[in-house]
Amino acid sequence: MNFNFADKVVVVTGASRGIGKAIAQNFSKTGAKLAVIYNSNEEAAEKSLKELSGSGHKKYKINVADSKAVEESFERIKSEMGGFHFLINNAGVTQDQILLRMKEEDWDKVIQTNLKSVFNCTKMAVKFMLKERTGSIVNITSVIGQTGNAGQSNYAASKAGIIGFTKSIAVEVASRNIRLNCIAPGFIKSDMTDSLTEEQKNKIIQKVPLGSIGEPDDVAAACLFLCSDFSRYITGQTLNVNGGLYMN
Ligand SMILES: NC(=O)c1ccc[n+]([C@@H]2O[C@H](COP(=O)([O-])OP(=O)(O)OC[C@H]3O[C@@H](n4cnc5c(N)ncnc54)[C@H](OP(=O)(O)O)[C@@H]3O)[C@@H](O)[C@H]2O)c1
Repeated sequence: MNFNFADKVVVVTGASRGIGKAIAQNFSKTGAKLAVIYNSNEEAAEKSLKELSGSGHKKYKINVADSKAVEESFERIKSEMGGFHFLINNAGVTQDQILLRMKEEDWDKVIQTNLKSVFNCTKMAVKFMLKERTGSIVNITSVIGQTGNAGQSNYAASKAGIIGFTKSIAVEVASRNIRLNCIAPGFIKSDMTDSLTEEQKNKIIQKVPLGSIGEPDDVAAACLFLCSDFSRYITGQTLNVNGGLYMN
């Protein structure tokens, strides 16, 4: 499958590291112009930007949980980059704890960063895309949003929420040729999974039918597909990129 996104503007949240960085890199190889969004790690964002292929990319420091910041910055992105074709809502955090030890701020941080951010960013993207009568939005959820996981009730709720949100907006905007889909990764190599012990990783691998932890590029490939015309008749769906860990 050959992808050609020449001169398309792709906004990727959480593109300074891990999966978001791989998504940005893969899009840049197809001629797209990337808006690399990050929260705090300026050095990582600069490195990610420098490693992109092609030209015309820019980085933006935006806390995607902050609706005002998203509103102002997305208007800037659109005017500075000359368009707004695809949005990948990828930024996410974990703050794990069993329920009785989970503080209200742990709950709020994860829900706001992972779920409210998707509302904030999608609202602005849809506003731009409605005028163009085209666009594709991909929301990165997680296998944990489908299965649940002890110690991750906040994360699971945020990721399950993304799936319901995506289906609802997919119906709202389908007549305008705007598509929204989710990708639900299983366990993928990144800073988020590097913190697991070898023992924890081996336990996970034993449960994965394809027998390994996934690569960020595996998620990126699914993203390219969901933004391309190869998926023109697909909306409101969740594509599982998990080595067979969960099948629905
Ligand atoms: N890794 C996995 O196994 C896995 C599995 C399933 C789903 N996922 C999902 O995939 C996505 C990416 O995960 P990852 O493993 O690549 O994570 P990661 O390596 O920890 O990177 C997280 C990214 O999100 C950004 N970010 C965090 N809070 C933000 C905020 N408030 N505003 C803007 N950006 C923010 C970070 O920016 P800074 O660099 O500035 O901090 C960073 O670029 C997440 O949504 C995660 O839940 C991951």
